[in-house]
Amino acid sequence: MIEILRERRSIRKYSEKSIEPDTIELLKEAILRSPSSRGINPWCFVFVDDKEILRKLSLAKEHGSSFLKDAQLGIVVCGDEKRSDCWIEDGSIASIIVQLQAQYLGLGSCWIQIRNRMHSKEKTAEDYVKEVLNIPPHLRVLSIISIGYPDEKKRGIKKEELEYEKIYRNRFGERW
Ligand SMILES: Cc1cc2nc3c(=O)[nH]c(=O)nc-3n(C[C@H](O)[C@H](O)[C@H](O)COP(=O)(O)O)c2cc1C
Repeated sequence: MIEILRERRSIRKYSEKSIEPDTIELLKEAILRSPSSRGINPWCFVFVDDKEILRKLSLAKEHGSSFLKDAQLGIVVCGDEKRSDCWIEDGSIASIIVQLQAQYLGLGSCWIQIRNRMHSKEKTAEDYVKEVLNIPPHLRVLSIISIGYPDEKKRGIKKEELEYEKIYRNRFGERW
């Protein structure tokens, strides 16, 4: 696990190689194994591999989503806020779990924030994504995880660069 974490970076450039069906099955299994508050599993996921729909989703925001058009897969993470007040936490955990599983499988991924972001002056990114995918009104959209085989190399963060000063021992402010 630590090796996966040491190498993990956000990947926004993808090769044209498609993701094998068995690999997509593993991503589905991994995301559904995510823990959630009280085991409510208030999430659902739209796995998008249709190029035209990926292109439309890549326009969800003015900045920070355009690379989705070149991804092989976008996982749209939705949550039912009526079913759980932890839908954001639960959706976030599911998002990172699938990112780490993707990394383990040799894929690259990047989180695209949708909640609290705007598509245009008039429309939220959430509403835009919901329209594109026919997501029912009672569901919220947290993120889209873009996934594909990497077409860029990034070095992992060096251990010396980690912010160890943010970890305290026993009491706030006390160094380990
Ligand atoms: C909650 C969250 C929202 C993010 N939203 C976006 C986004 O909308 N677009 C994007 O390109 N990257 C997004 N990222 C990726 C971050 O920019 C990235 O994780 C950060 O810069 C650190 O880089 P690294 O993942 O390569 O270590 C998001 C990451 C998180 C955790």
